[in-house]
Order: sequence, then C-alpha cells, then structure tokens
Amino acid sequence: MLIKSAEFIISNTDYLKCPQDGKPEYAFIGRSNVGKSSLINMLTNRKGLAMTSSTPGKTMLINHFLINGEWYLVDLPGYGYARRGKENRDRLQQIIEDYVLEREALTSLFVLVDSRHEPQKIDLEFMEWLGENGVPFGIVFTKGDKQGPVRLQQNVDAYKQKLLETWEELPPVFVTSSEKKSGREELLDYIEEINKS
Ligand code: GTP
Ligand code: MG
Repeated sequence: MLIKSAEFIISNTDYLKCPQDGKPEYAFIGRSNVGKSSLINMLTNRKGLAMTSSTPGKTMLINHFLINGEWYLVDLPGYGYARRGKENRDRLQQIIEDYVLEREALTSLFVLVDSRHEPQKIDLEFMEWLGENGVPFGIVFTKGDKQGPVRLQQNVDAYKQKLLETWEELPPVFVTSSEKKSGREELLDYIEEINKS
C-alpha cells in the first residue's frame, strides 16, 4: 500500500472524544518501550510523527493519525509500566481498557511483543483478555534487527508454540524492525485487505 499522507489529528484520554467520522482504525498496543510509536513512524515513513523515547512511558495518550485521508493508525500508551506509581498505571490501564472494549471504529488491534524476549505473562494474559472479549488482534514482533535471522526465527517459532498451548488457532503474525524498515509491506497490505472487505 502506498502511504500518500499521514497526519496527526488528536490526542485523548477518553475514547468518547476520539474522531467520530466512522473511519476504520488500527491500534498498536503492548508493553512500554516495545516500539509502538516507532512502528507508526516506520509504517508511515514519517520520522517524528509519533513521539518515541528510549525511556519507557513516553506515550501517555490515545493518539490518532489519519492515513491517506481514509483510515487511522492509533498509538496507545504502553501497559504494565509504573513510572509514576500505581495510581497512574491504573489510570492508563483504564483508558486502554475502555478504548479497546468500547471503541466501535477499532477494526483490529495489534499486540506488539519484543522479538528478543520469551513470552511474557502480561502479554499472554492481555491476549487472553482480548480473546474473552472478542477483540480481533494480530501479533507484531518488534526489534527484529536486534538479533540475527536464525535466532529471530527461533524466537518467533517458540512464541507461536507457546500460544498454541492455549489458542486453537494463531492470530496473524508479523515480524518487523522499525530500524531496518522490515515487515512494512506485509503489515500495510494486511490492513489494506481488511479495509477493502
Ligand atoms: P511507550 O510509548 O513508552 O509505551 O513506548 P513505545 O512502545 O512507543 O516505544 P518507542 O517506539 O518509543 O521505542 C522505544 C525504544 O525502542 C526507542 O529507543 C526506539 O528507538 C527503540 N526501538 C523501537 N523499535 C525498534 C526497532 O525495530 N529496532 C531497534 N533497534 N530499536 C527500536
Ligand atoms: Mg509510544
């Protein structure tokens, strides 16, 4: 898919204040620092469109980016990170939960996981919760450049194996590197397919 335009539209703490134009949207979620904002910049080819940081807890709001004037990419705060204490973490958790469960325009969620790490309890539980609530999602492995291709493939395979202990079927899986801009076409083509259907 060709990205002709990508523009920041609005930041919110409340899903009710998100755009109401009915355009389909795709949101990125996952632990803090996993690379959600970087992935948005990589997909849109716009460095600095979404704000990134090497310090976790950078994105604190629901951010809407309009793509080709037709659909949205949504950057969300990370889960499970408590820089400003439990209260703040719980508040962010609530914002995420409300958005995921109530936002009608949400067409698919993408759960990002760091390709270097073993399956983490918090991510597996989050996916279970999505399943229980019937929220469609795909899995995006990030930071693929941080290891060689063989190791990367081993980690992805091990992760799929783990998922098959609880899931009958695997969700769509994408392997990416925002640094090397890999996995871009696969993800954008997948979104294009859903937009068409
Ligand atoms: P929060 O907003 O804090 O939840 O984090 P985030 O998930 O949006 O992560 P962000 O995109 O800000 O990236 C976190 C750090 O990881 C930054 O230092 C990025 O440069 C780095 N990073 C993200 N993606 C990649 C990647 O594919 N490869 C490498 N090498 N670094 C990456
Ligand atoms: Mg971010």
